[in-house]
Amino acid sequence: MDYLGQLQEQLNQLGSENLLRSCTCIDFAQGPVIHMANGSEKVLFCNNNYLNLANDRRIKQAVTEAVEKYGVGAAASRLVSGTMTPHVELETAMGRFLRKEATLYLPSGWCANQALLTTLPQKGDLVLMDRFDHASIIDAVKASEADFRTYRRNRTEHLEKYLVDPKYNNRFIVTESVFSMDGDIADLTELVELKQKYNAILIVDEAHAMGCFGATGAGLCEQAGVLDDVDIIVAPLGKAVASTGGIIAGPKLVIEYLINKARPFIYTTAPSPMVAAAALKALKIIQAEPQRRKRLQDNAQFLRNEFKKISLDIGDSTSQIIPVILGQSAKALEVSKKLFEAGYFVSAIRPPTVPPNTARLRISTQSDHTQQQLNGLCEALKECL
Ligand SMILES: Cc1ncc(COP(=O)(O)O)c(C=O)c1O
Repeated sequence: MDYLGQLQEQLNQLGSENLLRSCTCIDFAQGPVIHMANGSEKVLFCNNNYLNLANDRRIKQAVTEAVEKYGVGAAASRLVSGTMTPHVELETAMGRFLRKEATLYLPSGWCANQALLTTLPQKGDLVLMDRFDHASIIDAVKASEADFRTYRRNRTEHLEKYLVDPKYNNRFIVTESVFSMDGDIADLTELVELKQKYNAILIVDEAHAMGCFGATGAGLCEQAGVLDDVDIIVAPLGKAVASTGGIIAGPKLVIEYLINKARPFIYTTAPSPMVAAAALKALKIIQAEPQRRKRLQDNAQFLRNEFKKISLDIGDSTSQIIPVILGQSAKALEVSKKLFEAGYFVSAIRPPTVPPNTARLRISTQSDHTQQQLNGLCEALKECL
């Protein structure tokens, strides 16, 4: 069998296990309601546009102005000639926002985790990861030269067992703050206590918390009162910030080291200046409009309560990400399809994105979902299940 035949066989196998994936095309701006490529209208409950900034008029204006002034592409890597004013302005603003000495802007959150975690932990170091950390964290740590172990969420004794091991030069703890597939949160206060006790370095990925939590929207570290205690924050900007790219924020020396050593930073074209300008504008709106966060959390609370009333398994979610855990992939696909036919777009999340037998609908709410849309989803779910 030639290589194409081999690939086909593997895809057939995925298909027979209900694990085959494909992209569904939307022909509209991201928002509570979208139009599909075939023209049909759906209420969208599975994107990360938590604060509805992806189609914000003021951000679009900022992008238009940036395109007029800076064009579209950066046309070089950051270290050659691709660093432009919007990159620097965004890095400065992010440093202030996250109260860190320095920041670095990369083309995606994936890229930021790769740059940080393949470079900073070195041979002779140990990295401790939550066992459900995002793939961008896991793959980067595996590609580093450090040893690594996974720990169970909020099980201190498990973590401590590894932290006491004296044979390592440095110990890193890497966690998401709001977990992307479960919507539950890390106990950041406890992790800070541990990192202080064992002199470890704490890295927090705020992908799904930035903009959504904290008095100024800086994330869960701000809300938990530990922003200054966390060593390094990774802030992917494609979720509530509704642009693209990823920020690494931490000590000046770490950032200088990454600029000189991190291959995913050095060997890639700088992000387009227009997306940096979009993120900068979004940041200002996030700080100035806390009511968006409030509406988001109210919507999330409503859905969680309603789902519990009808005995859905939503795990330990306490955020705007609410999993409806259904078990088998076939079941998740079937319910997703029925919801789609009823006018609701909620994609099915299956292994290996989530553990075996925990296939789910990953429902995420937006600040602009109306009460009618939330009620409609609950009714449709009841019918489909
Ligand atoms: C926790 C977490 N970190 C990093 C990423 C990667 O960010 P990006 O989509 O900007 O590559 C994601 C999501 O995609 C994520 O959920």
